[in-house]
Amino acid sequence: MSDVSGSTLVTGIGELVTNDRSLGDGPLGLVGDAAVVVADDTVLWAGPAAQAPDADERIDVRGRAVIPGFVDSHAHLVFAGDRAAEFEARMTGAAYDGGGIASTVASTRAATDDELHARLTSLVAEMRAQGTTTVEVKSGYGLTVEDEARSLRLARVATDETTFLGAHVVPPEYAGRTDDYVRLVTGPMLAACAPHARWIDVFCEPRSPHAFDGDAARAVLEAGRDAGLGVRVHANQLSAGPGVQLAVELGAASADHCTHLTDADVDALAGGSTVATLLPGVEFSTRSPYPDAHRLLDAGVTVALATDCNPGSCFTSSMPLCVALAVREMGMSPAEAVWAATAGGAAALHRPDVGHLGIGARSDLVVLDAPSYRHLAYRPGVPIARALALSPDPEVGPDLPATRPVNRTRGGSDMPR
Ligand code: NIG
Ligand code: FE
Repeated sequence: MSDVSGSTLVTGIGELVTNDRSLGDGPLGLVGDAAVVVADDTVLWAGPAAQAPDADERIDVRGRAVIPGFVDSHAHLVFAGDRAAEFEARMTGAAYDGGGIASTVASTRAATDDELHARLTSLVAEMRAQGTTTVEVKSGYGLTVEDEARSLRLARVATDETTFLGAHVVPPEYAGRTDDYVRLVTGPMLAACAPHARWIDVFCEPRSPHAFDGDAARAVLEAGRDAGLGVRVHANQLSAGPGVQLAVELGAASADHCTHLTDADVDALAGGSTVATLLPGVEFSTRSPYPDAHRLLDAGVTVALATDCNPGSCFTSSMPLCVALAVREMGMSPAEAVWAATAGGAAALHRPDVGHLGIGARSDLVVLDAPSYRHLAYRPGVPIARALALSPDPEVGPDLPATRPVNRTRGGSDMPR
């Protein structure tokens, strides 16, 4: 390939995860001693360094591993307030049932736009600093027409992957009137929120007195689908309810949590196109049993990993922590977990442009301060993952190629600086 104007050669990659079987070995498409050429926010070439074409700029990562940026396909980042006391109570025996969501709803309604924006921006920056380059953000702590629309307008500043979750719980002013609230969600609230959202979601959990049963969830999801939104479902978190099979029946992009699954749920997922998104930080932070990821993988289900970052059930922004937990507690191999946190997340968001480093992918390169992707699970809690800056920065010496954020000047970025 000839020299491309404005291109950058990233070389010295000790181990490259492409997630592209045509470029390297196994499902991760691994290439040793590798290089990548990028231009215009796009991967132009990836392969063995010895065969790399020339480029205008050159970044040497000095033997480090490079992986695609994490795709965190499930997060709740528009909120105010703090629920550390609820977490502490759980760690000493209290159960999670979603009741604490009401406290975040009260804090969020009372917050200014600037306060919500500042919290959201700082959480997105926290994610980016740990290697996340695409994030989905849900509403769900406003639960009035105005507060849900406001949450989504704010979320849109951070990402294209916005999800309307007006059916998170029944808010206090609708206590005992779930049907009326579902009518609000599927009527005026959906009309106000759909212009700012790509997806619709519902907390389908008959076991929780605060969430929605299968019939209500179906009404919400079908209304969203009819309004042009893609479908995703909070399913089977607290019990083996109807959520997973409803998600598959409606062709949802993703069924999230999947903590309690029957054989029929696994069969349904295996026979459909819905990704099972596992959220190991939630099991960690609610002291719940972890699902067995291999039950799904062995059945041929596509599995994604995400943080579910939120102030209640799991307040981590760290995809590396989720990879480590999935390996240690859910039976995934390091390779399966890294694939699920990158390509799996992209599948859960129907995003062919991210989650891999094949030709034409978005140039979301994450450098690990480690020789191999295995270190993400092998070194739990150590901040080794960083998004790679691709524009030359004279203020940062060549010893620190992995410590600068990506400088994006064109549209399409899901993670602003
Ligand atoms: O995905 N389960 C429902 N919603 C969130 C938790 C929200 C909260 O507790 O604030 C979840 O776990
Ligand atoms: Fe969630």
